[in-house]
Amino acid sequence: MSFDIVKTFRQRLGENYTLHTKYVNPAWATVTQLIGYDKVYAKAEGCYLWDQDGKRYLDCVSGFCVSNIGHNHPIVRQALRDALNESLPNLIQLDCSLLSGLLAEALIKRIPWLEMVFFANSGAEAIEAAMKFARCATGRPRLLYANQSYHGVTYGALSVTGHAMWREGFEPLVPKTHAVPFGDSEAIERELDAGDVAGVLLEPIQVGAGIIDPPDGYFARVESLCRKHKALFIMDEIHTGIGRTGTFLASEQWNIKPDIICLSKGLSGAMVPVSAVVTRKDIMKGVYSRLDRSCIHASTFMGNNLAMIAGLATLHVLDTENLLTRCREMGDYLMKALKPFEEKYELVKAVRGRGLLVGVELGIPESFSLRQAWTMMHKINPGLFAQALTIPLMEEHAILTQVAGHNEDVLKVAPALVVTQADIDDFAGSLDTVLKAAHSFPGPFWDVSKRLASNALF
Ligand SMILES: Cc1ncc(COP(=O)(O)O)c(C=O)c1O
Repeated sequence: MSFDIVKTFRQRLGENYTLHTKYVNPAWATVTQLIGYDKVYAKAEGCYLWDQDGKRYLDCVSGFCVSNIGHNHPIVRQALRDALNESLPNLIQLDCSLLSGLLAEALIKRIPWLEMVFFANSGAEAIEAAMKFARCATGRPRLLYANQSYHGVTYGALSVTGHAMWREGFEPLVPKTHAVPFGDSEAIERELDAGDVAGVLLEPIQVGAGIIDPPDGYFARVESLCRKHKALFIMDEIHTGIGRTGTFLASEQWNIKPDIICLSKGLSGAMVPVSAVVTRKDIMKGVYSRLDRSCIHASTFMGNNLAMIAGLATLHVLDTENLLTRCREMGDYLMKALKPFEEKYELVKAVRGRGLLVGVELGIPESFSLRQAWTMMHKINPGLFAQALTIPLMEEHAILTQVAGHNEDVLKVAPALVVTQADIDDFAGSLDTVLKAAHSFPGPFWDVSKRLASNALF
């Protein structure tokens, strides 16, 4: 019997949710059903998804900023196919592979103040490496991170994730990790004064906290404090990097040069898991300090051919399709389309973002009945209202969106960088309709919300 995965995919498509309920994660399968996200996607291209019946959806989630260059980009697919058509050496382990050297070279070209790259397989793994590198290279124990941050859920990464919800049931965590308020450089200075801080880990934009920008001057101050106190400045660009905010790294927009940069998500071309820790030679030398420590931090699949090819092809696409410029143009267009909602709708508090990473923040309305409905919903669950907005966007407008983080009143809009003006018009028009419905209480919008609220999961 031959192995025909495409045939199997087509034959069994539709069993997704029963298989997951039985074998993978029943809680998640139930959540998708509750919010009407239990679609059976059959195809993905660019910023669109198609279900089994051929209905098209606009993807404004991009797999949490994985598909920056769009789903199934033909150049990434072709590069992977080309490589698979050859019998290339892969995962030999006891050599130095060419493709990982090439991707490291290509990343350093784009981040010229840094010199070396460690590859891994996921965002959290990159954070783990950055934490270990900082401790090892400085010989100091403490790591600072920001309140409300998100850096992943493996033990190291979870220990520097400031959002308490992620920790419940998993403590105790890694010691000598210390939270400071995001945006407060004086708090960082006070901790650095102790002289035992290895590194300060931040996100350029706190995506999971509601797409929060730092206050003016914050990063420059943190950078100079780190230099002064000989602590490493570590930037988590896992969500914001690879062009998402209109520059290759979001950090570029503050003119800072962190000592360690973590990348993942978008580097994969939405195809093969990969992450990269980009750093300086002296930091790497501090870790791989002797020949008998040449593999002291490693991972079996780091630098595997398919991941490296997906990364190289993604960088090629970013350049040849001019996607950074396009991201800025489409980001401006999106912002212009959404900004008027701040005035038009009392439920909209602010529209903010950079490039194609945009948040629509909702806030308590003025009028009496709406205010009551808002308060009631927030009492049941603080994250419910923003989640309720995603439901009609999906059900009535075939648009996939998600909230920015847990219990945040922020709708996140992050389509692939190949999104068109027509897509943005579609999104903005649909959100306009949904917001209009949300301003009518009682009304169908609030009935859907009540349905959500009445379920035990929320
Ligand atoms: C900023 C940031 N850091 C780290 C991670 C963890 O990445 P992964 O889920 O690949 O472990 C994420 C994932 O969403 C992230 O957004």
